Amino acid sequence: MIVLGIETSCDDTSVAVVRNGREVLSSIVSSQIKVHAPYGGVVPELASREHIKNLPIVFQTALREAKVSVNDIDLIGVTVGPGLLGALLVGVSFAKGLSFASNIPFVALNHIECHIQSAFIEYGEKIELPAMAFVVSGGHTHLFYLNEKKEIKLLAKTRDDAVGEAFDKFAKMLNLGYPGGPIIDKLAQRGEPTYKLPIPKMSDGSDDMSFSGIKTFLLRTIEKEKEDLNIENLAASFQKTVADILIKKIKRFEREFPAKSILLTGGVSANSYLRKRFKDEFGEKFFVPSPKFSTDNAAMVASLAFERKGQKAELHQECFPTLFF
Ligand code: KG4
Ligand code: ZN
Repeated sequence: MIVLGIETSCDDTSVAVVRNGREVLSSIVSSQIKVHAPYGGVVPELASREHIKNLPIVFQTALREAKVSVNDIDLIGVTVGPGLLGALLVGVSFAKGLSFASNIPFVALNHIECHIQSAFIEYGEKIELPAMAFVVSGGHTHLFYLNEKKEIKLLAKTRDDAVGEAFDKFAKMLNLGYPGGPIIDKLAQRGEPTYKLPIPKMSDGSDDMSFSGIKTFLLRTIEKEKEDLNIENLAASFQKTVADILIKKIKRFEREFPAKSILLTGGVSANSYLRKRFKDEFGEKFFVPSPKFSTDNAAMVASLAFERKGQKAELHQECFPTLFF
């Protein structure tokens, strides 16, 4: 079965062609980083306009690279939320138009579930269930439990900033550019974790996570230390603290929700330090997608659509900016 995936939930225009859920024939991602970089973050209206401009081209490129035509597509998968409403609407409208005009069914998918699926593209049944899956991206820091049937249960989430957002804001404080994740990742490789960052504790005893206190600490340290600041060490300390928090959160649930596999997904899972720390901690149980499937892409959408092929959507399908979880 040949599935076309479409992903436009944030600032990447992505289309992929995937055979039988795992064989990626093409995965095209057109980044809008240059458009949003001057603003230090994604500008929603600009993102929608860029998607409108780029999506037809990305679609044609994905078909050409996969060496297929529209007639070969058996199913379309599209992200319907969560994400930026205008951005989502571009992808969903495109999927509906293609579905209607070419008589191809489509399925509506949750972006967070697609991130979890990203680990299954390359590892498939090597990932034994039940599993715990962290989705750590620009918009989400959510820990899930996947039971034997791959049904998803939310275990814990951030109460304020997502980890990716903290990376981006940290880089913005230092005027280092956007997105901050890859920049901080590189800086930290030359540093040592010498700064002691605060580990947030929930006063109500909940399992929520929080990263806004860490963000405030970074800002205060940058303002206080000025020229004395060791940026590399602060970056390394920040990453160490993030890894400590995420790993501790998984361990907190290990007894109640025993997992045979641990997955790390979402844009932040491209981080070299986090990948290493998780591998050291969880060994053979640990699965992380290749960086190209960590950040937003449509191969993960097509892959999940294949699994959900029975759940066909209707042409009145809506978008949900703050969808579930
Ligand atoms: O999943 P994603 O592409 O989009 C969302 O759904 O949000 O994640 C984007 C986030 C950004 O915050 C970006 O800074 C972060 O992923 N990111 C990284 C790295 N590469 C991307 N964070 C840490 N280290 C990286 N190497
Ligand atoms: Zn994402």
